[in-house]
Amino acid sequence: MNPKRVAIVGASGYSGEELVRLLLSHPGVQLAAVTSRQYAGQTLAQVFPKFAHHPRARKLCFSEPKAELLAQEAQVVFLALPHGVAAEFAVPLLQLGCRVIDLSADFRLKSPGVYKDFYAREHPAPALLAQAVYGLPEVYRDQIKSASLIACPGCYPTSILLPCIPLLRAGLVRPAGIIADSLSGVSGAGRKAEPDYLFVECNESVRPYGLPKHRHLAEVEQELSLAAGTQVTLQFTPHLVPVSRGILTTLYLAPNARFDRPGDLGEFGKKVAACYLAAYRDEPFVRVLEGQNLPDTKNVVGTNVLELAWRLDPRTGRLIVMSAEDNLLKGASGQAVQSLNLICDLPEITGLV
Ligand SMILES: NC(=O)c1ccc[n+]([C@@H]2O[C@H](COP(=O)([O-])OP(=O)(O)OC[C@H]3O[C@@H](n4cnc5c(N)ncnc54)[C@H](OP(=O)(O)O)[C@@H]3O)[C@@H](O)[C@H]2O)c1
Repeated sequence: MNPKRVAIVGASGYSGEELVRLLLSHPGVQLAAVTSRQYAGQTLAQVFPKFAHHPRARKLCFSEPKAELLAQEAQVVFLALPHGVAAEFAVPLLQLGCRVIDLSADFRLKSPGVYKDFYAREHPAPALLAQAVYGLPEVYRDQIKSASLIACPGCYPTSILLPCIPLLRAGLVRPAGIIADSLSGVSGAGRKAEPDYLFVECNESVRPYGLPKHRHLAEVEQELSLAAGTQVTLQFTPHLVPVSRGILTTLYLAPNARFDRPGDLGEFGKKVAACYLAAYRDEPFVRVLEGQNLPDTKNVVGTNVLELAWRLDPRTGRLIVMSAEDNLLKGASGQAVQSLNLICDLPEITGLV
């Protein structure tokens, strides 16, 4: 069988570069086209010397992003573009018969009204929202397989949803009053020159931002509400930390249980352990930590794995769940390649381990 031909629009950005790395050595597909306006005409090897050992990187040139040309070159197109721009490419690419894996926020929300509320603009292609599948394989694996438009989750949302969804589905935690604190490396902001993200501004600095209504809240609340069967409203504080990549999230959850008698806490803990075991025992990219270990970005950066651990606090009665992931892999490009493997009917781990 001929390998599927794939293209990356926005291949010069951080998540695009990670897609290039993964797809150059992916055994089931051929990287057929990469776009960048600023580097059009230069080879991948010229722009990213770290790929120069790969023969294809010495041949394949960046091109101007044009949907008609991309559709001639590739059957599956990744969009690693800013939101708003991604929809401009998704519409013609789908019309031309491509399958589209979008890393932006353009198709993650089901409601154009919520999109307008959080992104301060009318949705550019509301007719496509119903057909888009949220690209979280651990939750939507079957739908992704046959989807023509996949909306990959955001980096923070992945770090919140994978820990919370099994607990909410099982009714083990209350949907109300969930609090999430996240710490993100600077690559989360993309490869753009903005004063806030200059080395001198970020180094030796830790700061919150995007309060109280970070854009990612919209998709997190959408997906948590589906899991809980009732509207979930989340308190979320993201922080920028001086590392290149990685996200660490801490969640504060209220158990749906009373701890009146000795032993109640232990019984509840057993239910949490069983819930995570059932959800993630067979998942190749979710690692539930045991024993004393706690999530640490250094264990997951460079991998497509999200690791998580939980603790019950007997003094406050809260369940604390922590997760760590690489924002550019499980939070973006690695997760997108999981979806690629699903639509190509390949083992989900292909090219990712
Ligand atoms: N960074 C993360 O951790 C992360 C995680 C999850 C999801 N995402 C999402 O993934 C998308 C890409 O993020 P990123 O961090 O990789 O961004 P980035 O580093 O800023 O890269 C953006 C890419 O888009 C291209 N581009 C920008 N404007 C364009 C336009 N008008 N037409 C055509 N190409 C254009 C740029 O290349 P040229 O300027 O050379 O054309 C570049 O290749 C965003 O929607 C982001 O929210 C990012």
